[in-house]
Amino acid sequence: MAPNPDTDEKTPPMFTPFKLRGLELINRVVMSPLCMYSAENGVVGDWHVVHLGSRAIGGAGLIFAEMTAVHPDGRISIRDAGIWDDKHTAPWKRVVDFVHEHTESKIGIQLGHAGRKADTGLSWVRGTDAQMEYGFDIIAPTDIPVSERARTPRVITHEEIVVLPGLYKRAAERAHEAGFDALNFHCAHGYLMSSFISPLSNHRNDEYGGPLENRMRLPLDVFAEIRKAWPADKPIVVRISAVDWEKGGHEIEDAVEVTKMFQAAGADAVDVSSGMVTNKRPPDTSLFQVPFAERIRAETGIATMAVGNIENGDQMNEIIRSGQADFCVVGRGHIYDPYLTRHIAREIGYDYPWPNEYGRGGGFRSGL
Ligand SMILES: Cc1cc2nc3c(=O)[nH]c(=O)nc-3n(C[C@H](O)[C@H](O)[C@H](O)COP(=O)(O)O)c2cc1C
Repeated sequence: MAPNPDTDEKTPPMFTPFKLRGLELINRVVMSPLCMYSAENGVVGDWHVVHLGSRAIGGAGLIFAEMTAVHPDGRISIRDAGIWDDKHTAPWKRVVDFVHEHTESKIGIQLGHAGRKADTGLSWVRGTDAQMEYGFDIIAPTDIPVSERARTPRVITHEEIVVLPGLYKRAAERAHEAGFDALNFHCAHGYLMSSFISPLSNHRNDEYGGPLENRMRLPLDVFAEIRKAWPADKPIVVRISAVDWEKGGHEIEDAVEVTKMFQAAGADAVDVSSGMVTNKRPPDTSLFQVPFAERIRAETGIATMAVGNIENGDQMNEIIRSGQADFCVVGRGHIYDPYLTRHIAREIGYDYPWPNEYGRGGGFRSGL
């Protein structure tokens, strides 16, 4: 079983440290991966230093950088971040070095391939999931478009499938070279790995389709390559869509099986999201995904990351205290407030050290 939080009276549950392999995290707050569509040819820049750096200064124990493409055709848009080429390593290292030099936070990168959801354009331009014409080669296990407005993907061949683990492996090696502390392997939201896992998007008749063992073959082959390339003391988190929110798709029982397979392969935690394999929308209210993390944690013993609509300290402390999850992953709450963790610490009167640069300012009291 994953260790339970230290519930001593001095430390609020969300501020108890946690260890994943050799990675020591100072608290349970995780910045969720958020695509920024602000890279040039996959190369990240100043925006990423400020965006990720400010959330690290803001106190989240673990920062996940956005979905980062292992192949240029695996980008959602032409402006996605990349790690398919050696030229991407140094700019990522600049981001990582900032976080390590100036904060107590750790930083991970999310490795992904958009698959049949590639080439949909910039989020602030498209407003829909209609595909643009950047000319990306849109691949999928089966030629089922992601929506009525989307282009029909090309069915990936066996020869092309067996190349994918090597692409992810090189990406993991570059991520290590850049100094990242953790990987988040994107197997959720209908992107390439997820599209193999879900029976809604994978109708193949070969060894990569059919029963769950077959649909998991590619994600597990990729995972095995990443695990070999990634240092033994650094953790790998897998982001999954626990349920598909659609008849015939995955239910929570399937997510437990998926987790057990990744766990047996050496995964250290699952980041439990849901949906987006099709356009069926989940009930985007309340903490609707937290019970999935809870169930997976209870049935497998793996560390879980709960995500979705988490925004305040009461929620986080309760999720950690009650053992529903080991981490609280926050996306939009961090867009709204990069200093979310520090603000919660202040609200609940927990003494949370500031970076040296702000040591004096950290003594701020309103009214002084
Ligand atoms: C602007 C934006 C970009 C996102 N990009 C990613 C991404 O790169 N990878 C991913 O797994 N999820 C992505 N998501 C989903 C978030 O990581 C998160 O799971 C979702 O927003 C729910 O958490 P929240 O309610 O705390 O925002 C994105 C969400 C938003 C709002």
